[in-house]
Amino acid sequence: MADGVDCIGAGGGDSRLAGPAHACGDVDAGRCGVGAGGVPSGASTGSREAVELRDGDAARYGGQGVLRAVEHVNGEIAEALTGRGFTDLAELDAVLVDLDGTATKSRLGANAVVGVSIAAARAFAQAAGTPLWRYLTPVGVAPRLPVPHFNVLNGGVHAPNRLDFQEFMIAPVGAPSLAEAVRAGAEVYAALRARLAGLALATGLGDEGGFAPDIDAPEDVLGVIVAAIGDAGYRAGRDGVAIALDPAASEFHRDGAYHVAGQALSTDDMITRYEEIVARFPVWSIEDGLAESDWDGWSRLTARLGGRVQLVGDDLLVTNPTIVTDAVARRAATAALIKVNQVGTVSETLQTMGICRRAGWGQMVSHRSGETADTFIADLAVGSGCGQLKTGAPARGERVAKYNRLIEIEATDALPYGLR
Ligand code: PGA
Ligand code: ZN
Repeated sequence: MADGVDCIGAGGGDSRLAGPAHACGDVDAGRCGVGAGGVPSGASTGSREAVELRDGDAARYGGQGVLRAVEHVNGEIAEALTGRGFTDLAELDAVLVDLDGTATKSRLGANAVVGVSIAAARAFAQAAGTPLWRYLTPVGVAPRLPVPHFNVLNGGVHAPNRLDFQEFMIAPVGAPSLAEAVRAGAEVYAALRARLAGLALATGLGDEGGFAPDIDAPEDVLGVIVAAIGDAGYRAGRDGVAIALDPAASEFHRDGAYHVAGQALSTDDMITRYEEIVARFPVWSIEDGLAESDWDGWSRLTARLGGRVQLVGDDLLVTNPTIVTDAVARRAATAALIKVNQVGTVSETLQTMGICRRAGWGQMVSHRSGETADTFIADLAVGSGCGQLKTGAPARGERVAKYNRLIEIEATDALPYGLR
């Protein structure tokens, strides 16, 4: 319960400051609690995502400034919230949704709305005297520490190399605890650096902290990662360190074909390629294996591979409750990627996660390639009990901050670790 809310917005930058800058929200829930929220930004965005409002003034940040979004926080949003009491976050978020009035938050800007919603969640948790993750736990759900998915090798639009697949993640599914999972992630990451250096490949980093060597075939990358898992002394597989992929296929789908390492593949050829990959390598999850427009392909992919690996929709589903409901009916995936800024408010995010849970779907909470030091998603992953979080490599402060937050939660509360 907040007796009166006050709200301030300010501009700030994300991890790609040379490009985008962002609005952050600050909510002061009267004498009850104070919260701030940082706003992330994607590069391989889904076309149906909530809309980021950018100034388009070429003289500032190459048109990516957010003065208008900040103005909306300090103007219309502050006016609608200030001095009003709210029983919970859902009520406050509903005011934000109504005030914006569009399906995609395009009037006020999802980058204005989401910072306020995250800040409000913190303020409500503080007012309730409870850790943020516990405030976010739905009734009847058991919180747990998620399996961290470390994106150790970057391609696609996150790196200037020839690699078409965007993300190669290591997931210590078999680790006994979160702390041991983070240790495994860091040790495999170090072993991978040594392997790449030994092959005279570049060890510079992509946007999410993974290495960005100039390798083009995904199978070659997988071979090096499996070797690095062994070098670090771990077993490659679900009883040790498994692999998760995010090819982000919308980005290499052009003219009706998937363009991978110089080949043009049909949807069915692409699915066959994944079948071969899953047969050869310990891949447990594939996100955006097909393009966001290829709905029939997704249903065929799920029929052919859904029994063996998790199939996660990101660009396909954009954390949107209506789209996820439709995808469940069409059996078009088996899990959803969860990004708060794709839908715009924390309450709508929790609604989408509830739909997944009731459908028996997986949920993987996710950062964006442009990030701030905000650690909200770590608490969301724990509180929702979903068992999976991807937030980059064990490198770069904005990524490590989330893993450190998980370690902090584990140190203070004895919660179970692992996949749901
Ligand atoms: P983005 O990519 O944050 O650049 O959109 C992340 C992802 O595709 O999962
Ligand atoms: Zn993705």
